[in-house]
Amino acid sequence: MKTILTGLRINSDLQLGNYLGAIAPMVRLANAHNKDHRINFFIPDLHSIISNIDGDLQTNIIRNVKYYLAAGLEINDNVHIYRQSYVPAHSELNWILNCSATMGELNRMTQYKEKGEGKSSVNVGIFDYPVLMAADILLYDATYVPVGEDQFQHLELTRNIATRFNHKYGEIFTIPAPTAEQAKAMGQDDGKGIRIRDLTNPEKKMSKSTPGENSKIMLSDTPAVAAKKIMSATTDSVGTIRFDMFNQPGISNLLQIEALVTNTPLQEVISTWSGETSYGDLKQKVASSVSTMLAELQAKFAAIPDELIYELFASGEKYANEAANIKLLAVQKAVNLR
Ligand code: TYM
Repeated sequence: MKTILTGLRINSDLQLGNYLGAIAPMVRLANAHNKDHRINFFIPDLHSIISNIDGDLQTNIIRNVKYYLAAGLEINDNVHIYRQSYVPAHSELNWILNCSATMGELNRMTQYKEKGEGKSSVNVGIFDYPVLMAADILLYDATYVPVGEDQFQHLELTRNIATRFNHKYGEIFTIPAPTAEQAKAMGQDDGKGIRIRDLTNPEKKMSKSTPGENSKIMLSDTPAVAAKKIMSATTDSVGTIRFDMFNQPGISNLLQIEALVTNTPLQEVISTWSGETSYGDLKQKVASSVSTMLAELQAKFAAIPDELIYELFASGEKYANEAANIKLLAVQKAVNLR
């Protein structure tokens, strides 16, 4: 059985980029393959403590899982939901993989550079975070890892670390699929990952940590607030709608959001709107699609009891510890620690 696996940090409420870049693709992939694939969705709580937490970590954990269920994740015996820190093998494998990763490759990670930029001191967790992510993936032999484009560099690193390890110690790890294949599995025919842009500065990705309320749509925004943010999104002065991320990133971002939110192929959305001249009409359509999506998501979210999440953790963490300990022992034997 192949494994599909992903995780989202719980530092804060989630934004639309998390939903469209990771939650929705994971749910689609999981529901399509849950009869013959293992579906692992986990909470990377150890990754979360590398930086500040907005609100209460435990509350954020529950909220994060609820978004997956509200997005339609079906549960069966192949679906496992667990918290990273409840499976100590993640940290142990992290250490062993540290000895196969190099300072040079970690130094090149864009996220590390961005997070460290201008700071006189950066914690080691931020530097080592991609290696823990590699451990999260390799412990369960994951083939598909639905993540947004900003995490593709970490997936490539995971592939490199695993390949190096296998070369030195024998075929222990499954190498995750190359990123172009990952993108295709997520429904991105162009082989590129999803990157939802900041609404006020579409050169940048949408991120919770960017200041400015209008730059991002939070999953907890009321549909009316979300619609207002779309209506005030930065566009350009070209005057004609075209999908061109380089010259018209704001307009292109809206077309991309419309396609993902309505589950319509991007090419179809592009041909509907190409050549139109009313940016207002496009914004109104996207605002309405996003509001409808949020209203449905929030209604489903509100109906999920906390107890259900704890029940899922209990069975998920039992499975995860068993599976991870088997892999960890194989790794320990390979490096002659056992
Ligand atoms: P995190 O918590 O920063 O982000 C969670 C997911 O949301 C995606 N994402 C976006 N996608 C498209 N457009 C955006 N603007 C956007 N913003 C965020 C991210 O790509 C990600 O998929 N290291 C990971 C968590 C992690 C993980 C793992 C993921 C830890 N271990 C193992 C997969 C497998 C992270 O920090 O994502």
